[in-house]
Amino acid sequence: MPRGFFITFEGLDGSGKSTQLRLLARSLQERGRTVTTTRQPGGTEIGDRIRALLLHSITQNVVPLAEMALMFADRAQSIQQIIIPALAEGQIVLCDRFTDSTEAYQGGGRGLGSERVLAMHHSVCGDLWPDLTLLMLPDLDASLARARRRNLRQQTHGADENRFEAEERAFYERVFSAYREIATRDHLRVVTIEDNTSVEAIEQRILAIVTDRLTQLRT
Ligand code: TYD
Repeated sequence: MPRGFFITFEGLDGSGKSTQLRLLARSLQERGRTVTTTRQPGGTEIGDRIRALLLHSITQNVVPLAEMALMFADRAQSIQQIIIPALAEGQIVLCDRFTDSTEAYQGGGRGLGSERVLAMHHSVCGDLWPDLTLLMLPDLDASLARARRRNLRQQTHGADENRFEAEERAFYERVFSAYREIATRDHLRVVTIEDNTSVEAIEQRILAIVTDRLTQLRT
């Protein structure tokens, strides 16, 4: 049985990561791999409730430390119920966001700093880190415009998940630069995709990166 492999997708809201995650899952399945996909916050019963609480714009006055702790409460549940069991079966796990999001949004965006986030990661997640992180960092303005368009659509047709998207540009600038710092620090794990080209071109690039890493595992 092949060893499990843990891949996370990271980036700003509207960076296209969720689309690319779905496309990668489909390609890997077509190549005969068993894939589990999930997202954070969410994916478990408790996690979905935490997600609704954290993302709904009706939620107000959450202090940054509470926000960070709730993100990790969700993550603890996701690790035990989804990620570890799937990896133990040799599956490829694709997770939409993980601790890098907390470091970028709560550490950078909210100003808690990386150290506090990484200390909490260590307590809650031990030494579980992704084998590979695909960080989608297209241009900041393009991401923000896309996220806003999507939220306008959701306001009329879907769940309200707008609390973060209501943040001002300066917040996203801090998130963006925290992501850049993570990518520089963890350059072996994190591959940054800055492409603003087509969905198909990015899909092919991601598939090539993942295939290469999976081949290295076998050698
Ligand atoms: P997500 O559903 O991935 O939103 P999008 O599809 O818009 O990228 O994530 C929801 C929001 O939660 C997103 O604005 C980022 C935020 N978030 C954090 O602030 N910290 C975290 O640890 C995680 C996992 C997400």
